[in-house]
Amino acid sequence: MTVMTTRITIRKPDDWHLHVRDGEMLKAVLPFTAKNFGRAILMPNLIPPVRTTADCIAYRQRVMAALPQGSNFKPLMTCYLTDDTDPDDVERGFRDGVFTGVKLYPANATTNSAAGVTDYNKVMRVLERMEKIDMPFLMHGEDTDPEVDIFDREKAFIDRYLSKWIRQFPKLRFILEHLSSKDGADYVKSAAPQVGGTITAYHMMLTRNDWFGHGLKPYMYVMPVIKTARDRTALRKAATSGEACYFLGTDSAPHPYARKVSTNGVPGMFNAPVAIETYAQVFEEEGALDRLEAFASLNGPKHYRLPPNDETITLEKTSWTAPEEVKVAGPDERALVYRGGETIAWKVAG
Ligand code: DOR
Ligand code: ZN
Repeated sequence: MTVMTTRITIRKPDDWHLHVRDGEMLKAVLPFTAKNFGRAILMPNLIPPVRTTADCIAYRQRVMAALPQGSNFKPLMTCYLTDDTDPDDVERGFRDGVFTGVKLYPANATTNSAAGVTDYNKVMRVLERMEKIDMPFLMHGEDTDPEVDIFDREKAFIDRYLSKWIRQFPKLRFILEHLSSKDGADYVKSAAPQVGGTITAYHMMLTRNDWFGHGLKPYMYVMPVIKTARDRTALRKAATSGEACYFLGTDSAPHPYARKVSTNGVPGMFNAPVAIETYAQVFEEEGALDRLEAFASLNGPKHYRLPPNDETITLEKTSWTAPEEVKVAGPDERALVYRGGETIAWKVAG
């Protein structure tokens, strides 16, 4: 006889890859993450990007000011790597507890990445310093060579760059963010524990057939792009395997409606309102609810060498309807929500 689990309590999860933006958008979206997550790694791809310790201190203050009263959510900040990043400033920011890691955006790989790295030779000094001070290196791991097909960008980045860097910097800790392919998931396991990888819920839920197989769904356009059923299966198996190298990173990335639904739409999917609930669904479908806590709350802190959260959250098998959109004050107006209008099977209690 199988007994259906209807309630599960886990240590409070962390989100190891999140965009909360700035200004009115920040105020509108941050509470969704602060409600269920203890900490989140905040992406630095603002306009202008968070490039220095000084930029980061100012951004962190704006984030703290946008938190709901009484919240003890902790933002973990990142430094946006450019061709000109100063290793001394990175080191200072890390030692002072301002930066948790440095984030690589290859130039023009995705949203707000125009100031990203154009030539990897220019940042080798920063990587050397990070290795020396044991500071994590977060990567948008896609090769932007125009000759590389968009579905092969993750694999090309691994083959051409990451596989060399892990030998060049044997003590540097890497995070290949938002794994989107079987190749990416397999690579992380082969290079663990030096390399860890985050996985979004939507890369485990969707395939490119969902994205443009029956009408085009602009809100499913993300970077790295959603791939095949084979890739999705590999990511689901990886996340639910219990392997310590895989951990939760939603890549929740809100945009104003008009920029998403446009003739030249931007990548990014706002999923914070349904994040932990959607991961719970995937783990339930894979018969692995007992491994949700490792993926959501333990493996990430282990890789980042931080203690797990002391608090817990409880998820219940109670259905509710996700909001279609979230209102944003001012000219941005609203952001579309992933799974908006759908019935969500799990709900966070309390
Ligand atoms: O889909 C994405 N959106 N991928 C990224 O790498 C960036 C993000 C954003 O900032 O909107
Ligand atoms: Zn992202």
